[in-house]
Amino acid sequence: MINAGSMPETGLGYKTEEVKFRHSRVNGLVFLPYMTEQRIDDLAKFQTRPEDVFIVSYPKSGTTWLAQIIREIAKPAMPEGVSEEQIIGGTVPFFESVNPAHLEGYPSPRYICTHLPYAMMPRDSQHKVKYLFVARNPRDVAVSFFHWMRVLDKIDWDGSWDEYIGYFINGNVPYGSYFDHILGWWEHKEDEHLLFMKYEDMKKDLLSHVKKIAGFIGQNLSSQEAERVAEACSFSSMKADPKTNYDRYRDKIYKKGSTFSFMRKGVVGDWKNYFSDEQLAEFDKLYASRLEGTGIDFEFLS
Ligand code: A3P
Repeated sequence: MINAGSMPETGLGYKTEEVKFRHSRVNGLVFLPYMTEQRIDDLAKFQTRPEDVFIVSYPKSGTTWLAQIIREIAKPAMPEGVSEEQIIGGTVPFFESVNPAHLEGYPSPRYICTHLPYAMMPRDSQHKVKYLFVARNPRDVAVSFFHWMRVLDKIDWDGSWDEYIGYFINGNVPYGSYFDHILGWWEHKEDEHLLFMKYEDMKKDLLSHVKKIAGFIGQNLSSQEAERVAEACSFSSMKADPKTNYDRYRDKIYKKGSTFSFMRKGVVGDWKNYFSDEQLAEFDKLYASRLEGTGIDFEFLS
């Protein structure tokens, strides 16, 4: 693989004039510092199993929400001898940060979260595994991502919204351009192994999504059971449960002393509190130039 960054790949990343938070760059894409060229290569070589289910999204689009729905529906287990505290995501591990050797110990079907672009997924997975993809409107993604980046310890950044929105528009955020990412997955939306969902639709009708997800992963849920899952996965239930919101990984993820709550707002339309008129005009121009005519559209208000 070509490393477009000019700095050595240490796993600690580096800051540049253009991107003032610690990051790495692989194949031209900005990543979190630990995503070295070697790590990306290892993930591409990961041996999938036909029963694997990947939960995929661009960051801050509802990954944790889907992971919780899966936990409630499928009750996935940990590998023997490994505790939930040791692996970020526990029973639904986060692909990019877990040791691949640990992944081998998970019983099938494995449910694995990732933010990887389609082209960077394990090379042998494309026609075998299932993908649950969730997309969220990019204005709210940008706001949620801004708050997330300010609390991440490893990137050492506490810049302003005005600085951040420039990074987002130019694709200089971890996992690169939102638009490239979503378009890469959207191309495969008709694939029978892929279920494409939207955050805004889930907010409107969680119950029907719970049923859809259960059907997609081959689980029979009674109406009562589906209702129980939807209740357990509501924003208020998840916010009240320290197990669902990464609190137990605080030391691994957040800056020391951070009081950040992963379940921050969970709404459609928070962007209204952040974008200036000029920023919105520039953002919408980009949105139109990348997504118009593709068939993807979003609701920006609830
Ligand atoms: P906000 O920061 O806007 O609140 P991810 O898991 O992909 O990182 O996405 C995180 C975003 O999903 C956060 O958005 C979080 O609050 C929201 N989220 C998580 N669980 C949710 C739920 N049950 N209902 C609505 N939003 C949820």
